[in-house]
Amino acid sequence: MMIKNQENKNFIHFLASHAKNNGFIFSSSEIYGGLNAVYDYGQYGVELKNNIKEYWWRSMVFLHKNIVGLDSSILMHPNIWKASGHIDEFNELLIDNKDSKKRYCPDILIKKYVENNFSKCSKRKKEIFFRLSKSLKEKNYSDIRILIDELNICDPVSGTKNWTKIRYFNMMFKIKEEIEKDLFLRPETSQGIFSNFNNIKKSSRMKIPFGVAQIGKSFRNEIIARQFLFRLREFEQMEMLFFIHPNEEKKWYEYWKNIRFKWHLLLKLGDNKYKLSYHKNLAHYASAGTDIEFNFPFGFKEIEGIHCRRDFDLKKHESLSNKKFRVFDSNKNNYIPYVIETSLGLDRVFLAIFSSSLEIEKLENGTERTVLKLPSFLSPVKAAIFPLVKKDGLPEIAKKIFNKIKINYRLVYSQKASIGKLYRIQDAIGTPLCFTVDYKTVETNTVTVRYRDTMKQKRIHIKKIPDIIDKVTGFEQVLKELY
Ligand code: GAP
Repeated sequence: MMIKNQENKNFIHFLASHAKNNGFIFSSSEIYGGLNAVYDYGQYGVELKNNIKEYWWRSMVFLHKNIVGLDSSILMHPNIWKASGHIDEFNELLIDNKDSKKRYCPDILIKKYVENNFSKCSKRKKEIFFRLSKSLKEKNYSDIRILIDELNICDPVSGTKNWTKIRYFNMMFKIKEEIEKDLFLRPETSQGIFSNFNNIKKSSRMKIPFGVAQIGKSFRNEIIARQFLFRLREFEQMEMLFFIHPNEEKKWYEYWKNIRFKWHLLLKLGDNKYKLSYHKNLAHYASAGTDIEFNFPFGFKEIEGIHCRRDFDLKKHESLSNKKFRVFDSNKNNYIPYVIETSLGLDRVFLAIFSSSLEIEKLENGTERTVLKLPSFLSPVKAAIFPLVKKDGLPEIAKKIFNKIKINYRLVYSQKASIGKLYRIQDAIGTPLCFTVDYKTVETNTVTVRYRDTMKQKRIHIKKIPDIIDKVTGFEQVLKELY
């Protein structure tokens, strides 16, 4: 019988401890007590993360002849953030409880309270939500503070109503610079693409429509940074901006929504784990937006955003930089291209894959195994090679196989434990294939291959090892289904 451990109440705790004990995720600066919402990727975490990046990069840059890559800097001229609206608009509200010293988003605090204390269709609930959204729109924060008092909302930690005033808070990290103006750590990678629009257009000689893809770190001073890898202060984004003629906005918006949704489904984590959610509250730069949501262990949440950014950014950069960001249409009229942006959080994809793949399986003999059933093409280690025993020339044969093919695949060689124990170690890090050299190998040039998911074993010729690894772990099978 198999038990899916996602049903476990303490699943996130189990997930984090499995990730730590098996070299996937460590808390940053752990020796000094850690740093809130910042994590390090360990020896297997970095491999899984790199494979996710490769899956995305190939799907964007390899499979589209009109999409190129970019790696722009994290630090940019402060005018970038003035023009993009991040200095003025990228704000959150916060309120502190003076007793617990805990910090909250006041609108979320109210929404949670109302959800828990009023029935679904109650008139009072509707009135409160209407008042809240009106006050948010009008930036009437003192009314939101009054609402918290009127509803008698207590801090869930201290149980008191000892609240501070509501404050406004910019989510960018500012770096104090002595010589130049203050600098910011970028809160999105897209501005590096916008600011290089002319460089890329000229040097690549591409015509509209074309796209630019980038993977890189972003930083946000999140107030409520919880839920493991979900909301981080330092994270990685995989963003692609597709520059189009304004008349074709609808067509390309639909195209990218479909392709991006399919990209997720091909991970085979379960079709019912994804849904689309259309934005009602748009980001300051967007005219339309859709989120792809994933059913994380704490419910459906955004994993990727697809936005119509129109000419918002290039227009603002034109007016602040005095540079032109224009192209010509077939009638020789110039225009600022519109943009469809696809923006995916790498750490969230990692969390989605990791949390959906981790299982405790009850075996027929009454024992259990912990197994990470990752999509095989993303597994940190593609195959492990073991000698059955540490003598009689078996290690030498196993090492020879390992050395011959290690240039093509991330492999593991081990002879440090019994075969059963070695299989369990590889199950825990999601290695899809284990090859074992035994006494029959010496006579017949064959090895056993053991499959992670079924634990079934088969005897195959040594020559077939690369083919089997390719077949089980290659990117090709997945990518060719995308188009
Ligand atoms: N350039 C558009 C943009 O940044 P966003 O919806 O704010 O849009 C895009 O972010 C994606 O980045 C999100 O769907 C999410 O996957 C990821 N993301 C955003 N904030 C994050 C955070 N604090 N921690 C981890 N991932 C985050």
